Amino acid sequence: MRAAVPEDGLAGQALAEPVLAADGRVLCRAGAVLTVPVLEKLRQLEVDVVYVDDPGFGGIDARESVGCFAKSTMRRIMASAASAVAAGRVPAGLNDRDIERVAAEVLDAAAGDLPPCLLWSRERGLGAVGQVDWAEPGAVAGALAIHALNTALVVAASGRSLRLGPAQLPHLVVAALVLDVGMAAALGPVAWRRTGDLDAEERGRLRLHPQASLEAFDGSAHWDTFQRIAVLQHHERLDGSGYPYGLSGDRLHPAVLLVAAADMYAALCEPRPHRAAWRPEDVVEMLMSTAGMEFPVEVVRAVVSAVGLYPRGGTVALSDGRTGVVVRSGQGNFDRPTVRIDGEEVDLNRDLTLALQGIVA
Ligand SMILES: [Fe+2]
Repeated sequence: MRAAVPEDGLAGQALAEPVLAADGRVLCRAGAVLTVPVLEKLRQLEVDVVYVDDPGFGGIDARESVGCFAKSTMRRIMASAASAVAAGRVPAGLNDRDIERVAAEVLDAAAGDLPPCLLWSRERGLGAVGQVDWAEPGAVAGALAIHALNTALVVAASGRSLRLGPAQLPHLVVAALVLDVGMAAALGPVAWRRTGDLDAEERGRLRLHPQASLEAFDGSAHWDTFQRIAVLQHHERLDGSGYPYGLSGDRLHPAVLLVAAADMYAALCEPRPHRAAWRPEDVVEMLMSTAGMEFPVEVVRAVVSAVGLYPRGGTVALSDGRTGVVVRSGQGNFDRPTVRIDGEEVDLNRDLTLALQGIVA
């Protein structure tokens, strides 16, 4: 079974899982055969992932870590954020139970056996399925929602190895979900769509988005000090090269730098209007190069061990010319996963004759 974008090319395939609306209603039952009109209807309903059987996945359960409730809730918050923040109002959903339900779903997903992130694909990056048309009115809100979930999932999965306890980690996950609610208001959706080509004034406004995010909920007693600091400092770096204040060293809490590292990992794995998504293994390599400089070594180690080098369900090229599908990440050895090759599972921790040469799909 694999996740797929509900595009017309899936017509004729049977659903491996029911398609659910955000409120839990069954839109399509498991086993239903997809047709072009049904696929069109699902897109209209903003369903961005369906699950179909794919013999190439040989029974691997390659589903996303969070479901449609989390995605639609975050999309709703991001869609309302720009106008609300600009008008000095709290964006819808920021103060209600929904965001805590999303955070709980993220924490559950990170505690389970599934990959800590949304699925990665070469064309669409990490979890950004359905977000390929940047001209679509909802594209920016959708991309910010996916980014919020990716960041929160990485924080949740990494936080355990940093020994963040139940008093801190859920708060940090909620903070990770709202880091960028001020982004569209600070920069404007039109400018966001071309972030690779900003002028000096726009770049200045971009660097103000942590404050804009903080202002979105600053008047509310709902948010604690730790969360406020995490939101405000999520672009700061250990060596002082970050923004908005250029703080450095022990003025930055390691947990806040964990959020910053997760934010960077997720952002680079996602496509942006001016660039394609990076491959996860390239992002990991880049992240490792920042250890001890932009981020503390223990933070980089926590993120890398949580996300692994090769996402589950990814198709990888092998040194003998064959390809395989990642079944599970390497236990304690993140670059040697277990891979299904020609129907057989091979643990690359044991078979050292084969090397991986990167993700191909
Ligand atoms: Fe940000």
